[in-house]
Amino acid sequence: MSTKPKRAEPDPFASVRAATDAHRAQHGCGAYPYANGALLGVLAGAANARRILELGTALGYTAMWFAHGAPGAVVDTVERDEEHVRLARENVTANDLDGHIIVHHGDFVDVLSGLDSGYDVAFFDGFSPSPPVLKSLRGLLRTRGVLISANLTHGGKEAEAYRTGLMNRKLWLTGFIGTEGETAVSIKL
Ligand SMILES: C[S@@+](CC[C@H](N)C(=O)[O-])C[C@H]1O[C@@H](n2cnc3c(N)ncnc32)[C@H](O)[C@@H]1O
Repeated sequence: MSTKPKRAEPDPFASVRAATDAHRAQHGCGAYPYANGALLGVLAGAANARRILELGTALGYTAMWFAHGAPGAVVDTVERDEEHVRLARENVTANDLDGHIIVHHGDFVDVLSGLDSGYDVAFFDGFSPSPPVLKSLRGLLRTRGVLISANLTHGGKEAEAYRTGLMNRKLWLTGFIGTEGETAVSIKL
């Protein structure tokens, strides 16, 4: 049996990922594309998601992976940086995903208060998770919906409190990805 590691499938959104890295170097912002776009696509597909909510669009890399994994879904993605919003909308159009991905411009707290509940999947990929955001996401997810939370190792009391919230067994069934637990996958109970 070969011990050669299997290669990952080619990334259909590699150019958006590369553009995000190039943009960050020039903009000096925190637009780090999520490490495992394919995993997000698979989770959305496995959940048979029709409505997906993403916090932290950057240039649209992960929103595109969600749309790819769940072709019947509408992805609402939220971003406050005007330049990121402009570039993400350009990328959505260039990838023929208009109507499939909607880029909302604004702060998470403001945009979330105007959205209808019933999301099948939600993804937090902002800079630092906080308990008020977790509460809003819980309100917007349907029961048994899937919450994916990244950047949990960014440190600070707020991120720690968010992680503690996910460990409340009456509210969430949670598993962590990777030894550091940087990302959690949870089901709303
Ligand atoms: C880590 S990047 C997102 C990366 C993206 N998901 C990807 O994989 O390409 C975080 C993004 O969240 C945005 N952001 C951070 N805090 C925010 C807030 N409170 N409201 C809206 N956008 C926010 C930043 O401007 C940044 O573009």
